[in-house]
Amino acid sequence: MSKRHLTFICQNCGAAHGRWQGKCEGCSEWNTLSEEGADRPAGPGRKPGKGRLFALEPLAGAAQEAPRTGSGIGEFDRVTGGGFVRGSVLLLGGDPGIGKSTLLIQAAAALAGHRQHAVYISGEEAVAQVRLRAERLGLSQAPVQLAAETSVEDIIATLSEGKIPRLVVIDSIQTMWTDTVESAPGTVTQVRASAQALIRFAKKSGATIILVGHVTKDGQIAGPRVVEHMVDAVLSFEGEGSHQFRILRAVKNRFGPTDEIGVFEMTGAGLREVANPSELFLSERDLGQPGTAVFAGIEGTRPLLVEIQALVAPSSLGTPRRAVVGWDPSRLSMVLAVLEAHCGVRLGGHDVYLNVAGGLRINEPAADLAAAAALVSSLANAPLPADAVYFGEVSLSGAIRPVAQAAARVKEAAKLGFARAIVPEAARAEAGDGAIKLTDVTSLAALVADIAARGKRAAAA
Ligand code: TYD
Ligand code: MG
Repeated sequence: MSKRHLTFICQNCGAAHGRWQGKCEGCSEWNTLSEEGADRPAGPGRKPGKGRLFALEPLAGAAQEAPRTGSGIGEFDRVTGGGFVRGSVLLLGGDPGIGKSTLLIQAAAALAGHRQHAVYISGEEAVAQVRLRAERLGLSQAPVQLAAETSVEDIIATLSEGKIPRLVVIDSIQTMWTDTVESAPGTVTQVRASAQALIRFAKKSGATIILVGHVTKDGQIAGPRVVEHMVDAVLSFEGEGSHQFRILRAVKNRFGPTDEIGVFEMTGAGLREVANPSELFLSERDLGQPGTAVFAGIEGTRPLLVEIQALVAPSSLGTPRRAVVGWDPSRLSMVLAVLEAHCGVRLGGHDVYLNVAGGLRINEPAADLAAAAALVSSLANAPLPADAVYFGEVSLSGAIRPVAQAAARVKEAAKLGFARAIVPEAARAEAGDGAIKLTDVTSLAALVADIAARGKRAAAA
């Protein structure tokens, strides 16, 4: 067998192929292969050389410095798990224009304000452009050091001189290139090699590096999915284009939780932290309209109240439409199926739309009950009580199952002025009747009957 080097690399999944072909065998994407210089030959092709000796260290060594440095932005630290860990590398992904550069220049400035050495290296914008943005953010006096550079070797050489920075922002990894490989910047090989070099520098020097990564239209951090495996944490910065909210989420985190979210608002003067997101997500509520229910959710350790909106309308289509924003479509299908099978709700001739207000994305099954309430409320044209919140998981049998942290959910609802909560039976014992009236439901059918009765009363009045 000939020992050819594999030189066609899939730009989507990084699989290597010996010859060009239209479809990648790794990920079944079309037209993603491009020719790249092979990595240095390894294995049998390479002459066996003698390795350099290195010292092994005991695990029980003392850590020399505080392992974490807070960024100075509370919502950012919440997501990273309490600040930047020395020598760690984070990848921040997000759509173009979502505010990644803004967030990081703010974080760098906040850190520099605490007398930590912060460096911001932009491969996309000129120094003057970065300055202009900082000026707009009111940060022009922050002692952050800037450079517009794309050569990884030059960057590492410069950073290794003198005092090692505490934080280095590389905006973005796709613009970086290293001359150890021949491919063009932005290709998988370049991105991987550049990231590897920067990660090696971070581990050796103790600096924290944040790499910015672009996201493709299907939500992957473009090309360099390979990088996701190499870094310590992958953060994603999300938001709906038309909303001002931005949510920072940890997708992977070696040094902290992955279920915390940080909430920001994009204002004329940059990103503002939102310490109490419930108020924000409820601020534009359509009070007393059919089809809206307030869900008492938990994001990480923090309770979060959010409005769920549903529209159920007669359909003229053979196959009615099911559209959902901010929630799992298969979860919606399940709730609809339970409504049909156990509650006598006929939805076969109706289009169903479900939306989580404010551009938030909910992953909890606890939202089932609120979603079902919103759907039935819309269908029956019966507004739900404006002072009620809902939470509970719907099982396939139509029973309402208990969910975690009921007490925290109820407490948050009481804090925001809600007077009652519709909850699973078990939640009553856990949360206890306090400032807020708890109504337990044992089955989805009972909830449906209740909402339908409200609709009849409203129609008769
Ligand atoms: P940016 O940080 O450049 O996004 P990214 O680096 O993710 O591509 O943010 C650009 C957007 O943010 C742009 O559409 C304008 C908006 N913006 C504000 O609304 N206020 C501000 O103070 C700044 C700096 C940007
Ligand atoms: Mg940018």
